[in-house]
Amino acid sequence: MAYWLGIDIGTGGSRALLIDGKGHIVGAVTAPHDEMKMERPLWAEQDPDNWWVAAQQAIKGVLQLTGVSGAEIKGIGLSGQMHGLVLLDKDGKVIRPSLIWCDQRSQAQVDWINMKATAEAVLRCTANPVLTGFTLPKLLWVRDNEPANYERGCMMLLPKDYIRYKLTGEYATEVSDASGTALFDVVKRRWSTDLASMVGVDKAMLPECFESSQITGIINGEAAAATGLKVGTPIVGGGGDQAASAVGNGIVKSGIVSCTIGTSGVVFGHMDQPAYDPAGRVHTFCHAVPGKWHVMGVTQGAGLSLQWLRNQLMPGVEYDALTAEASTAPAGSMGLYWLPYLMGERTPHLDSTARAAWVGLTAKHTRAEMIRSVLEGVAFSQMDCLEIIEGLATVVENVRLSGGGAKSAFWRQMFADVFKKQVVTLETQEGSAYGAALLAAVGTGEFGSVPEACEATISEVSTTLPVPETAQRYKQAHRIYQAIYPALKPIYKLL
Ligand code: XUL
Repeated sequence: MAYWLGIDIGTGGSRALLIDGKGHIVGAVTAPHDEMKMERPLWAEQDPDNWWVAAQQAIKGVLQLTGVSGAEIKGIGLSGQMHGLVLLDKDGKVIRPSLIWCDQRSQAQVDWINMKATAEAVLRCTANPVLTGFTLPKLLWVRDNEPANYERGCMMLLPKDYIRYKLTGEYATEVSDASGTALFDVVKRRWSTDLASMVGVDKAMLPECFESSQITGIINGEAAAATGLKVGTPIVGGGGDQAASAVGNGIVKSGIVSCTIGTSGVVFGHMDQPAYDPAGRVHTFCHAVPGKWHVMGVTQGAGLSLQWLRNQLMPGVEYDALTAEASTAPAGSMGLYWLPYLMGERTPHLDSTARAAWVGLTAKHTRAEMIRSVLEGVAFSQMDCLEIIEGLATVVENVRLSGGGAKSAFWRQMFADVFKKQVVTLETQEGSAYGAALLAAVGTGEFGSVPEACEATISEVSTTLPVPETAQRYKQAHRIYQAIYPALKPIYKLL
């Protein structure tokens, strides 16, 4: 039999998933990562070698679970958390822990880039403004604060590409993940050597960049011995977790938008041509489909909001029990609002100083309303993303919901009501790892193209329609929600 393997290097864990030639999932195993280290507020680090340990466990685990042998795997695709900085020395050794996607420490470096290269040049070269979460300012933070580490740095990789290096010995990336570095010319689909020169980054530090379904290397002997994979198995580019997840959700043509609620929350739309929001509130990146682009709006603390609430205030309570309790509260949570800015915010504020808040709390509020308000705050924030994406002339017919947040029927209904759109779930709820496996199947010739692979494998299973009265209630509540951030903004500066 022939199989394809998708490996997703997430924040919480690494997942290995096997599909057959019809796109059926044969098995999947996740191995957890150590928690991200947050030495200071808004700092977030993980150890790349911990990802590698987890990736090996997940690969070995899925081979064992399914009884599939390495020789039966025809191709491998990688996906992973985006934007993280993995800095390697001349021998390919990790120099320091990775500053990961939600790390917000680099405002001074963002300001420096905008001064040195100018904000206009950054937009011209990369089609996006530079943000604290992106890779370049993280690299420059190391330059400014740990010069000895910077001096030793010879190669800069993204998280999944470090795993590629461990599997193949090759330094390589692909267009969708490279788009989130702030060093990539998204329109021309290649590194922006102009911008790299302007900010003094040595081009030799940038890995070779491929399209997502192109083969970038093969499994080497060391990796084969460590994982049970076969020497010579090809690995395709894969995608940043959002682009890969979009492939797994079939967002490969205009009109369908996805909303993925993991630690972050992302509204994602396909584009045939690169269009960008002049205010830069949503990202315009290369899609994992050759010659196509995507736009996405990001809520930094989506699933994270619920996880934080649970871990800090209701430890040990199952997520299903939390949403069941929330469902006993009325829509609008009796005037209680949650701003999900636990890690600053990207869309729509682009503000690393933003902070989360409950606004409107009274002695009458119950725990159920507190939980519901958190779910609503995340949905309002995703609505902010959807509004901007629709404003870019994208016609949105329905929203495909995925990630952990899609598992709750209650939250699904809330997204349908807040978006005032049909919310659809898919037979395969796997997102990134599934998309990565499909990209591997395309890259090794099993399908003719990414849209063809999606057409053959992806089907809708449930549709949730908005309830008009609740949708109306949420429309008003969303306007109030949107008025809170500008009112708090001056306070954030003082904090
Ligand atoms: C996308 C983003 C997140 C991370 C973690 O821009 O930052 O999706 O990749 O999931």
